[in-house]
Parts: sequence; C-alpha cells; structure tokens
Amino acid sequence: MTTNRDQALAVEMRGITKRFPGIIANDRVDFDVRRGEVHTLLGENGAGKSTLMQVLSGLYQPNEGEILIQGEKVDLKSPRDSMDAGIGMVYQRFMLVKKHTVIENVILGLQEFGAIINYRRAIKKIKEISREYGLEIDPNAHIWNLSIGEQQRVEIVKMLFRNVEILILDEPTAVLTPQEATELFNTVRVLTGQGKSIIFISHKLNEVMEISDRITILRKGKKVTTVRKEDTDERGLANLMVGREVLLDIHREETATEEEVLTVTGVTAVDDRFLPALNGVDFRVHKGEILGLAGVSGNGQRELEQVLTGLRQPTGGTAVLGDKEIAGRSPGEIIRDGLACIPSDRHGVGTAPGLDFMTNIILKTYRYPPIASGIFLNYKVARKEAEKLQEQFDIKVPSLHAPVRLLSGGNLQKVIIAREVTSNPKFLLAVHPTRGLDIGATEYVRKQLEKLKRQGVAILLISEDLEELITLSDRVAAIYEGKITGTIPARDATIEKLGLLMTGQAI
Ligand SMILES: Nc1ncnc2c1ncn2[C@@H]1O[C@H](COP(=O)(O)OP(=O)(O)O)[C@@H](O)[C@H]1O
Ligand SMILES: [Mg+2]
Repeated sequence: MTTNRDQALAVEMRGITKRFPGIIANDRVDFDVRRGEVHTLLGENGAGKSTLMQVLSGLYQPNEGEILIQGEKVDLKSPRDSMDAGIGMVYQRFMLVKKHTVIENVILGLQEFGAIINYRRAIKKIKEISREYGLEIDPNAHIWNLSIGEQQRVEIVKMLFRNVEILILDEPTAVLTPQEATELFNTVRVLTGQGKSIIFISHKLNEVMEISDRITILRKGKKVTTVRKEDTDERGLANLMVGREVLLDIHREETATEEEVLTVTGVTAVDDRFLPALNGVDFRVHKGEILGLAGVSGNGQRELEQVLTGLRQPTGGTAVLGDKEIAGRSPGEIIRDGLACIPSDRHGVGTAPGLDFMTNIILKTYRYPPIASGIFLNYKVARKEAEKLQEQFDIKVPSLHAPVRLLSGGNLQKVIIAREVTSNPKFLLAVHPTRGLDIGATEYVRKQLEKLKRQGVAILLISEDLEELITLSDRVAAIYEGKITGTIPARDATIEKLGLLMTGQAI
C-alpha cells in the first residue's frame, strides 16, 4: 500500500455524509487539503460548504465517513477536539463577545480548560502574531469599537494564538472592503508560506482564482470535482458550480441617451437619529443607462433609497423624476410617475410576507383596470396575470396562494422583479438586487436589468458587489459619507479605483 506521506496531506475527509431532517447537506463528500495549500470550497448557496466545514470543526458529527488529520484518524466530537487537532474555523457570523476586549476574547475559553493565562505574556504573543501575519490589532480595544474587518482579524488572531495548522475561513471577504480583502490575502500567503493550510469558502470567482491552489466544487451536497487553479478559469468554475453554461459577463450595450430621467441635485437628508446622512448628493441617470453606485454600507445608501422612493423627506436639494419633484410626494404618487424599485429590504418594503404569491405579484397593478373592476379585484384576471408572470419569470411556488415568506431568496427576488418590470417604469432603483442570490438567480436578475435598460429605462443600481457594478453599469459613482466622491465610465473602472473612492480618497 502506498501512503500519502509525500503529498503531506493535512486533512483528509472521506465519504462524509451529513443529513438534516429532510435534506442531505453533504452526500459522500471526499475532500483533502495539503500542507501549505489554499484549498477553496466553491458552490452556490446551500451547496453544503458550511456544513462540511462545520463537520471538520467538530460542530456537527457526520452520519457517515471518516476524517484524518496529518495522517491520523480522528474522532471530532466537539469544537474543542477539532481545535486540539489543530483546526480553527472563522465562522460567517463572528463569535466574539462584544463587550470584552480583544485580549479577553482571544484567551476566552482557554481559561475554562485550566490553562493559566499570563496576561502580559498573552499580550506579547498577540502582538507578535499581529506583526508576523499583518493582522494589525490593538489588544486592549473593545470589540464593539472595532470595524467588521478588525473583528475578523481578531478571530484569526484567536485561532493563531491556539497554534492552529489548518484555518477555515467561511466567506471571509463577504464583509470586507477591497483593500481589506487584499490585506487578508496577504495574511493568507504568509500563513501558507509557513506550511499552514487554509480552507477558503467563497463564491466570488475572481477571488477564488486569485488565492487558491486547488478548488473543490460542491453542488447540491455532492462533490462535483477538484481542479487545480492552473487548469481552470472563472467561466469554467461558474459552469461547474451551476452545472450548465452560464453567462456572467453581460455584453454591455451602449443605449444611454442624453435625456435625463432622474436629476438629483444637492440632496441632503438626516438618518433616523437626525444625524446628517446625505450631505449634498448630485447625480443624474439617463434614459437607457445604468448608473452604478458603489459604497461601503452605511454611507447614505439607505437614506438615498428612502428619499427616492418617498419614504424619507430630504432636508434640502432637489430630486426630479421626469419633470416632477420627488420631495413632498408619497410613494404611491412617485410610483405613478414612473418609479419602480427592487428594495434592499425584500421582506419588509419589498413584499407583504404574510400575503400569498398572487397578491404580491399583482400588488402594484391591482388598483387599475383590468384587474380592478370598480373597487373589487377581478379574481379571474388577477389569477391569470399571476400565472402568466409565474411562468414567464420561472418562479417556483407551491401554489398561487402560498405565502411569499415561504419562498427562497431567489424566487422572492423574482416576484419583486416580475412585479416591478411589468409596471412599465421610467426609472428603476435596484438596491443590492443580487445580494444573497446564487449564481443562477444572479444571472437571471442581471439579464432582466439589461433588458430594461435596452427598453429605455433609466436604472440606478446600488450595490456592494463591485464586480457587478462594473459589469452592469455604464458609469459607476461612489458614495462616501453621504457625498458622491467621483463617477467613472465603467470601462475605466477598476476595483482598486472604486475602493479608493469608496473610502473618500482621490484616484
Ligand atoms: N442546522 C441545519 N439544520 C437543517 N438544515 C440545515 C442546517 N444547516 C444547513 N442546512 C441545510 O443544508 C444545506 C447546505 O447548507 P450549507 O452547508 O449552509 O450550504 P452553503 O454553506 O454551501 O451555502 C442547505 O439546504 C441548508 O438549508
Ligand atoms: Mg455557507
């Protein structure tokens, strides 16, 4: 028998099956990681990535299969066992105690197991780890005072403090700015340079191509294949993930005209706490154009969305849709003048979760004939319309009367889009339209936006996904602290340039 010793496998998972009631989250999955390697787990939402790693981190016990760590068979009954075997996982939702300091969080848990912690030595070790791996952090800072990026660094420091050899990062870049992501990747390179192994979970294909040595693709709980980075590209990975040919790069057609549909000038607004949120926003969106708006969340996007949809009164400036001022008018009136919206809050503003599919999908048109006849809903016409849209937009619902809160994210988004698109708008405000959607649904949403644009709709696309902004938009603007810091034609836009504008720096 040959051994794998020369390949230096840090992790070997063989035939892992994990069932939850009614679902097989992992179906006989084989997965291995070499020492000093970045091995990415790639797959659509629900493919089973987090579950597989929660099995490795001892949080879940598999129904079948075995795990070897550094060539030794192990039985991981708890996160503690996994940690002892040298495995650490940084979860999608951080596990830090907010009111504690960095150092308290790092040593938390170690004391319970009887280790005697010398504070001064711990601080020294944290500082050493910070320096060595580029994880700058103040050991005495309180967690609630730290940015998301800094909190993530604390999580990683915490794992390195425990001398892990295998670090699992579950979608770590989802919460980072492009610059922070670059720093994280630098840390990853130092770690692998020392022979540590990184398991990276992501569905951002460009990042996966940048950082991985090998990539394992999961689809519906099953392993599709493992490929070397050199042997694939973004398109290849996308196809493996979805199981068919997908079109991610939209061929951008130049359909923009000179006609201004939305003209926003010097708009100011306060947030819910009456603090300035918009500090003089200027931009215009033309007929047949997609204007992208990049920004780290919390820089005024929410208030801008509310102002444009009539949910918040601006304190100054003007926003003119067509030839009518938005300020001082109700959402209903603005909609009548040509506004459509894919809102950031799909469950609250976007849909009426308790109402059924049929009601939701016709929500916008029900006041007008032929669906309304007098003050009553013409049930037959409504039903027909709902059925037509369901088919046209390929929405998976158990029945027309299923409450929409039961729909998956992708299907819910389709309900909103179907409804908004059919209202024949002049202007569409699309806020994070593909956030949380898998690649198939994302492709679908993007195509719909493209189609509307070609039909002459002016679109403002607010998104935190810079790739998406660059791919879809004709021009991309950035918002920082309630002001537009710059606008660039999409063909000149890069992640780096937008990253700078998004943090208020010059390009
Ligand atoms: N604790 C759980 N209980 C029941 N079902 C779960 C649980 N965790 C995950 N699942 C289901 O298992 C499948 C895989 O989920 P997950 O591993 O989170 O996927 P991914 O991380 O690839 O998005 C999904 O269908 C999910 O709904
Ligand atoms: Mg996951």
